[in-house]
Amino acid sequence: MTHGRIFLLAGILLLQLVLLTGQGIANAGEQALPADYCQWHVSDYAIAQPLCGLAGDASRGMAIASDSDRGNCLACHQLPIPDVEAYGTIGPPLSGIEARLTEGQIRLRVVDTREINPMSIMPGFYRDPRLIHRPGKRFAGRTFLNAQQVEDVIAWLVTLK
Ligand code: HEC
Repeated sequence: MTHGRIFLLAGILLLQLVLLTGQGIANAGEQALPADYCQWHVSDYAIAQPLCGLAGDASRGMAIASDSDRGNCLACHQLPIPDVEAYGTIGPPLSGIEARLTEGQIRLRVVDTREINPMSIMPGFYRDPRLIHRPGKRFAGRTFLNAQQVEDVIAWLVTLK
């Protein structure tokens, strides 16, 4: 191969790279974050701080976890909720979760478990909506649960002995 040809090939590759990155940036810019979205930070596989500094309510959390329109945790997890007979078994039962994980570790799993396991099929309930590929129309540009709902669910989970 002549030098000229190698330079030509390198030039084409470089151009493709520039085009691809340009496209990536343009796509990311299409969608803005919801105005009420609070940034969160992961350290030691946990999110120590409550989302937006909110305090959760455990009884609301239990209702959200079993509501098929909101958390729908029951679709995949067995949960200690009275009178619930049907539940999924794709995920582990969540009884006793308080003894296995700290509050901050539970928060990361509910917010965006793919930070720990990129292959997880559990939805990131407070994942940055710009990272969700082809969400259903209802969820375009928003999180599956809002920050208060996430904190409510966590407040309930930490009571599960
Ligand atoms: C589509 C199925 C699915 C749904 C819906 C789902 N999860 Fe999960 N969840 C999983 C799977 C699978 C795992 C196991 C870890 C993994 O694969 O990421 C898991 C793991 C977890 C864990 C860590 C458990 C442990 O013992 O380490 C917590 C906590 C959790 N889920 C909470 C929730 C809550 C709360 C909801 C509802 C707001 C929910 N999940 C909804 C599938 C799901």
